[in-house]
Amino acid sequence: MAAEGGEKWILTVTAQTPTNIAVIKYWGKRDEDLILPINDSISVTLDPDHLCTTTSVAVSPSFTHDRMWLNGKEVSLSGGRYQNCLRELRSRASDFEDEKKGIKITKKDWEKLHVHVVSYNNFPTAAGLASSAAGLACLVFSLAKLMNVKEDHSKLSAIARQGSGSACRSLYGGFVKWIMGKEQDGSDSIAVQLTDEKHWEDLVIIIAVVSSRQKETSSTSGMRETVETSELIKHRAQEVVPIRTIKMEEAIAKRDFPAFARLACADSNQFHAVCLDTLPLIFYMNDTSHKIISCVEKWNRHEGLPQVAYTFDAGPNAVLISHNRKAATLLLQRLLYYFPPQSDTDLDSYVIGDKTILKDAGIHEMKDVEALSPPPETKDNTQRNKGDVSYFICTRPGRGPIVLTDESRSLINPETGFPK
Ligand code: DP6
Repeated sequence: MAAEGGEKWILTVTAQTPTNIAVIKYWGKRDEDLILPINDSISVTLDPDHLCTTTSVAVSPSFTHDRMWLNGKEVSLSGGRYQNCLRELRSRASDFEDEKKGIKITKKDWEKLHVHVVSYNNFPTAAGLASSAAGLACLVFSLAKLMNVKEDHSKLSAIARQGSGSACRSLYGGFVKWIMGKEQDGSDSIAVQLTDEKHWEDLVIIIAVVSSRQKETSSTSGMRETVETSELIKHRAQEVVPIRTIKMEEAIAKRDFPAFARLACADSNQFHAVCLDTLPLIFYMNDTSHKIISCVEKWNRHEGLPQVAYTFDAGPNAVLISHNRKAATLLLQRLLYYFPPQSDTDLDSYVIGDKTILKDAGIHEMKDVEALSPPPETKDNTQRNKGDVSYFICTRPGRGPIVLTDESRSLINPETGFPK
């Protein structure tokens, strides 16, 4: 073993990486192995306090093979995507030395040393939220720190991209653009930060986690089928997205909410339209998703100017981006009016994340939800859809990945190199 210090040492790094939601969607690849998209996309990073992945990675000469545990269960790292990320990172690893601990690892040693990866999400994985984006980004970011990879975040984004396309956008906070690139080797298909999370701090994001019994088509296979069978996707990728991306960048730069909302809603709708144009057709939204859109559209129309934008990924959950705190408060009242919890659910677990919005909305206990009156834009006494939403998460735009230096946050036992 080239590394010094005996066989006992274990070196660990822990990092936290946010998830992101696209407001201009990535859908369709031009290269399946390198994960190169057919259009640019833009996302907003969500506050890691409410949605993030924490990953601890460790290296030791005593490890016999690369191993990973996700949310408490061991998962295989043998898949091509993981292997591509590990290979790319190992090839960029640098010498490392910790004199105090007597650890010296040369660039060459990294090829032979094995790693342990322990990862968990701070939000329910079953929720169908973009856990793969945060997960892959965190794997790449934490291993890059461990292996002393000296590349910048853009280069790291190109590695994370090979784990899962949308993961490349989780390397930054705020608003992020994934530039599709032109090169065949994918070297220019990278993510860049458009603005940091402070630029548009007023935005409030409410996610409605919609109950779904249906097994959804994965993004990977769904977009492959769309590219193979849809005519509409060509029009979208070649004609619509290039113009829409420029307009979206302008709207974000100017914090022009009406333009932002119109573009985000239109893009979500078109993404779901190309899914319907796929053979066999793909439905990601369900009746509840449609009811949420209708609630938002009625209210936006009633106000004359958009108060909230909606966007849906490859599933029925709604991501609702409100103009500001006031709009978020009014939105939450509407959401709780139309989608109250089941009688046996407590309010504390029904609205999670930033609960201060609940307080601003004057809702302190379940009887306040029951007492909500129908929104003024509702003409008839619209039915309340109890139990259609599993829960709501209140969040906001957030920062990019960070290393957690507090050892107590590590998910790996520093003595054994195994999950705590
Ligand atoms: C609808 O990144 O999950 O969320 O690259 O095959 O891993 P792979 O797909 P993935 O697709 C995400 C699709 C989307 C839109 C988006 O995030 O831009």
